[in-house]
Amino acid sequence: MKEVTYQGLTFEPYITKEDIEKRVNEIARQIESEFDGSTPLFICVLSGAFPFASDLFRSINLDAEISFVKLKSYEGTGTTGNVKQMIGLTDDLTNRNVIIIEDIIDTGNTIHSLLEDLKKKNPSKIKVATLLFKPDALKKPVKPDYVGFEIPNKFIVGYGLDLDGLARNLPDIYILKDQNNQNSKS
Ligand code: IMP
Ligand code: MG
Repeated sequence: MKEVTYQGLTFEPYITKEDIEKRVNEIARQIESEFDGSTPLFICVLSGAFPFASDLFRSINLDAEISFVKLKSYEGTGTTGNVKQMIGLTDDLTNRNVIIIEDIIDTGNTIHSLLEDLKKKNPSKIKVATLLFKPDALKKPVKPDYVGFEIPNKFIVGYGLDLDGLARNLPDIYILKDQNNQNSKS
């Protein structure tokens, strides 16, 4: 696998699509055993979580539903700290078992704000599945229930994760190279 460059920043291969697929299947088996018989409602957090949600949802062998919210907090490689709801949720969550699907938990602001909103809708249970988790960046008291990979506090792209809208279509995950190792070609 080769390095990729976006907006003059170089990223190196970090997690292969094969490793992602293996981990997604393991998480699916775990969810199936915990939610058997309860028709859970998955909520995919757009935009970044759509490939993970698509793979995870299709690998769940239970009666299940999926819905979508669209939130935004990042600009460039940094969080703005303020979570905007671009598309809201209209589903009735009363007495439902809900599983939020996120691409990544970084500061935790996004998931914290979404959890506060969803709790008001009286679900019977809310769990959080995130493909990636940066424990060193966490600023809110949130603990994801299903984690694909714990990663260092560095910027990554691919498999849904973007740099200002780009790189979401990469099938593998890439990590930002250290600035002093960045070469000048773009
Ligand atoms: P948080 O609110 O700081 O936890 O950030 C969550 C959101 O920020 C994620 O859903 C992503 O959309 C975005 N994000 C956080 N870290 C990264 C990263 O390393 N690459 C790309 N997007 C990221
Ligand atoms: Mg996101």
